[in-house]
This record gives sequence, C-alpha cells and structure tokens, in this order.
Amino acid sequence: MKILILGSGGREYSIARAIKNEDTAHELFFQPGNGATVDLGTNLNIKDYNELADFALENEIELTIVGPEAPLVDGVVDIFKSKGLTIFGPSKEAAQLEGSKVYMKNFLAKYNIPTARYIETDSIEEAYKFINSLTTTPIVVKADGLCAGKGVIIAQSADEAKKTVGEMLSGAAFGDAGKRVIVEEFLDGYELSMFAVCDGKDYILLPAAQDHKRLEDGDKGPNTGGMGAYAPTPLVDEELYQKVRDRIIRPTLDGMQAEGAPFEGVLFIGIMVVNGEPITLEFNVRFGDPECEILMPLMTSSVSDMFYKAATNRLGEIDVSFSDEYAVGVVMASENYPYGSSTPAEIILDDVKHEDIAKYTHISFAGVSREDDKLYATGGRVLVCVGLGKSIKEARDRAYMRCGQVHFAGKKLRTDIAYQAL
Ligand code: AMP
Ligand code: GLY
Repeated sequence: MKILILGSGGREYSIARAIKNEDTAHELFFQPGNGATVDLGTNLNIKDYNELADFALENEIELTIVGPEAPLVDGVVDIFKSKGLTIFGPSKEAAQLEGSKVYMKNFLAKYNIPTARYIETDSIEEAYKFINSLTTTPIVVKADGLCAGKGVIIAQSADEAKKTVGEMLSGAAFGDAGKRVIVEEFLDGYELSMFAVCDGKDYILLPAAQDHKRLEDGDKGPNTGGMGAYAPTPLVDEELYQKVRDRIIRPTLDGMQAEGAPFEGVLFIGIMVVNGEPITLEFNVRFGDPECEILMPLMTSSVSDMFYKAATNRLGEIDVSFSDEYAVGVVMASENYPYGSSTPAEIILDDVKHEDIAKYTHISFAGVSREDDKLYATGGRVLVCVGLGKSIKEARDRAYMRCGQVHFAGKKLRTDIAYQAL
C-alpha cells in the first residue's frame, strides 16, 4: 500500500517502523516527518490540508494515518474524506472529545460514563460556588481548549483554585482556550492509559500502558509530554479491562454514534483507578507519545491492516494479536526540555555489537534533523530507546543498555522508567 503518515514525532516513526517490518512491502510518505523518517519513506512539505489531499489523490495514497491531535481538531479527516480518500482518525466533530474538555465532560455525564464530579462554566461566581461546596482538596481546574498539555492545574487549596479559575476565565492564563473552565474533584488512585483503535462501531483494545509525565526521577519536576512508558502494565487484570470495555469504551462508541459523530480513530483513555474502579480522567483522540512507541512493537499482526480496516469501518473482520513480551521505552530529550529550545547537537550512535541488544532493542526517532548524513538532536524529545523482553525488568535493562549507546551533548533521560512495575 501507499501510506501517508501525518506528524513528525517518535509516535509517527514507530507506526512507520512497524509497517515497514511487515511481510508486505509498503511505500511510505510523511508530512512532515523528521530527519530519520527519510530512512523509511519520503518526507513531504505540504502544510495546507487541501493541497495535501490533492497530493494523496494524485499519488494514489490508499491510507492516511494521522498522528497528532492538532490536524484532527482542525478537520483534516473531513477534508480527506470529502475527496473520497481513506484516512484513519476522527472527524473534526468527534475530535472534540480531546479538543474541548467541556464537550468531553458533558458527553461523559450524558452517557453515564464514570468521571470526576465537576462543574463546567464561564462564570466566576458559579466556579466559586462549586469550589466552596467541595469538602476535600486538592481541587482540579482545567481550561476547556487545547493548551499543549499545560491546561490542568491541581490546586492545593480552595483559594488557589479560585485564583486559577480567575486567571483562566480572564484569558490571562491560556487566552480563549481558558474562557470556559472545568472545576472538578481530585481523584486519588493510580493512573493508566488505554488505547482503543475504533472504526465507529467496533474497536480493538491494546495492552494497557503507563506513562511517566514528570521530567525527573521519582516523578519530580515539571510535566512533560512523557519521558518514558511501559506496557503491558501488571496493574491491570482481566476484570479491570472488562470494566473499561463495558463502562467506558462501549458507551462512548454508542454515545458518539447517537450524537451523529461516530468515533473513528484512536481513543486514548486516561484512567484513574480508584478502589479498583476505572474513572475517566480524559480522552485524547490519538496515540500517546511515547506510549505508541512501545505498543507498536508489541503487535504481531499487521499494523497497516488494522489501521486500514479501522478507516474503512471493517474492524470486525480482523483478529489482532500481540506478543507476550513487555516493552519499555526510555525518552532521551534535549538539554532544555521542556522549558525551551536547545542548540542542535550531533547524535552519535554506537554500533550495536551485542546480539541481544541488536535483536531486542531499537530506536524511534523524534526531534532529529539530518545534514550530510549526520543526525542532529534538534530539541524537545529527541528519541526513544525501546527494549523488549520476557519481563518488564529484562525489557527495561535492554532499553537502558541501548540508551548507553546513544550520545549527544546535553542528553537528558530518566533512570527509573517502569519503577512502579518492578
Ligand atoms: P488531563 O489532561 O485531564 O488528563 O489532566 C492531566 C493530568 O492531571 C492527568 O494525567 C492527571 O495526572 C491529573 N488529573 C487530571 N484530572 C484529575 C483529577 N480529577 N484528579 C486527579 N488528578 C487529575
Ligand atoms: N504521553 C502522553 C500523551 O501523549 O499525551
């Protein structure tokens, strides 16, 4: 197949890598891709979605896969579909499950899907009243719109919650994205991410993953997009999977159909498990990054076929299988991540001589550019070293061995990925 992948991160690299490893040969294109995706296909530079769709038509692209949320919220799927193209991802309307926390919370409430008790409002008086009614702290305040992962504040006191609400509603904190807010009760439990590949009606649930959002070891420091992840997590048993299926995924797909916005794409469910019960924290409408980088290598059936069948509403026709191994991904980021940009630094990759490391590890590249056949770290999250193994420990040890063979000035990584599971 000719396949176009939108995005430039490790997530998109890992999807492409999995597709390239299939028995059938595929031709890949990236918009825009990165300095390493050129090893897997052709990087494009067509920013306008209408022009990109025309390119897809002219070049007989059979499947387009969208990685990040921004093009989805902007309606890239609607544009491609209006031209008769096959594209995997939610429509602009369905992408509201991520694009608007107010939409999501009201949807969850309407269809009785478990979530934290909340109020959604643009009135400071209403927000204060709700805050005053809460008997416990912390209190969670969320901006409605997309804020690059920064729109959630866990306030330690009612006063701090009120101050945060004020800053958001005035537009001072996040501009228009904060002019409606959610205030909700704090859920105390452990967090999980689950990913369901959906075709509107049917879905495939992938192994549950755990991400490490904080920059520093021991879950300290500022939030990031994710510094590492592992899957499957032993914190989930069959009973919990079943609860997520019955109480969250099934009613979400049925509800979105009833809303006239059937959900096609990746439903990324942020879950807090409280006393054994899964509560929905958030939805995203795309794969997590770096979760995708560890889930793709665990799939033993065809990744491209899964996305194709999902995009053509035929998931019911296929069986998807997963390896019985574990995967651990360790992010290597640039010096100034997540605060600011970093000076480009050449990446030196040692030759992998150890047979075990060659066989059971690989790298998914993200923030890299290429010049004269040299790779440079260009900032943000640069790459993810992935290790596979029969246990989480084996997978983690291998991932870290691979990290030891990657060098660039200012490289930054956590040394405790998967600690919760060990
Ligand atoms: P969200 O973008 O809504 O997932 O929020 C980002 C992070 O804030 C989550 O991954 C949780 O760690 C935390 N969080 C959000 N909502 C709550 C809540 N109601 N209770 C506890 N933690 C929360
Ligand atoms: N790793 C979390 C995310 O992609 O949102």
